[in-house]
Amino acid sequence: MTGRILITGGAGFVGTNVAKRLAGAGMNVRILDSLARAGSEENVDWLREAFPDRIELIEADVRDVDAVRAAVDGIEHVYHLAAQVAVTTSLSDPSTDFSVNARGTLNVLEAVRASPSSPSLIFSSTNKVYGGLSDIDLVECAMRYAPKDERVRANGIPETRALDFHAPYGCSKGAADQYVLDYARSFGLRTLVMRMSCIYGPHQHGNEDQGWVAHFVRSALASETVTVYGDGKQVRDVLFVEDLVNAFELARSNIGELSGRAFNLGGGAENTLSVLELIEEVERITGGSMQVSTDAWRVGDQRYYVSDTRRFGQATGWRADVALPDGLSALVRWFEDAHAPQASAPMRRHAGDRSVAAGALQR
Ligand SMILES: NC(=O)c1ccc[n+]([C@@H]2O[C@H](COP(=O)([O-])OP(=O)(O)OC[C@H]3O[C@@H](n4cnc5c(N)ncnc54)[C@H](O)[C@@H]3O)[C@@H](O)[C@H]2O)c1
Repeated sequence: MTGRILITGGAGFVGTNVAKRLAGAGMNVRILDSLARAGSEENVDWLREAFPDRIELIEADVRDVDAVRAAVDGIEHVYHLAAQVAVTTSLSDPSTDFSVNARGTLNVLEAVRASPSSPSLIFSSTNKVYGGLSDIDLVECAMRYAPKDERVRANGIPETRALDFHAPYGCSKGAADQYVLDYARSFGLRTLVMRMSCIYGPHQHGNEDQGWVAHFVRSALASETVTVYGDGKQVRDVLFVEDLVNAFELARSNIGELSGRAFNLGGGAENTLSVLELIEEVERITGGSMQVSTDAWRVGDQRYYVSDTRRFGQATGWRADVALPDGLSALVRWFEDAHAPQASAPMRRHAGDRSVAAGALQR
């Protein structure tokens, strides 16, 4: 089968949801994934069962130049999602983090540049490229922090915010983000960057290091204790994965005009959540009490990050449609239907990883 759309990291949470949408629409999907993430094999098995004729898996690493080049062959569009995704792991092994996220992205870009089929490419970057945002004055409310500045409170953080890479993960994703933009500038490739905030939904095998919403939901259903780092008032905007896939597909179909640009993408100011509020909401939906322990703030944890999504909305007409209670209920249902509660799924380690420290609210 010749895949027309390549998804690197297509066995991961976001990739599985993108593959499901594309294969469901009758498209051929090629996945390049090293299956480094626990749960990725389960995701890919699910995809192959649901769409037996549409899914092709290349089990390979983005650090493998030849495998990446072969995967890009004959492809019309690349979703480049494969990554080392945890800040904590990047702190314990910056070299592996760099080689997967920065070097791996360069490998994908070079393969795209060399490809006779001239594929377009969308890259999943992160809000971490904007750093700690410690200059944003906050007021402390009962359950959350809120920006003092009315404009920030109403709209969130725009793309005009200065880049300020924090932690090796921020540096490696930030470098990749800049390479992707520059390959549009320097080589005329059709590339686009999505700087994503917290995404949640089915097929998310969240753990303490990454995927905090799914981690909290799964822990609640399994009656396991979750750790809240800091005071739990840190705020993020959260976006249901179906809304993200809508945005990706709009970006893909408009990539001619949008090429070379970066967009902040998340739930925006209308879909924000603190850790304490998430606990309250999960308890409301599941009807149980969560077991919670506390620990000190972790280095680099932003007290507030909310995406200003107006640039992408104005460019494409996109908006987040799924309200938080509906999205969370869908996630709970997915866990209940597909998964008997099981032990937390840790990150499988890349060759060269030394340790994985605990942490909750990474992105
Ligand atoms: N989920 C979020 O909230 C969020 C937020 C911001 C940015 N992002 C970015 O979106 C992308 C997808 O995130 P996700 O939540 O689906 O993560 P995920 O961990 O579920 O998926 C990543 C996939 O990449 C694969 N992978 C890891 N290292 C690889 C390598 N060296 N070669 C090939 N494949 C490899 C993993 O096996 C996994 O299937 C990542 O680039 C991440 O940085 C995600």
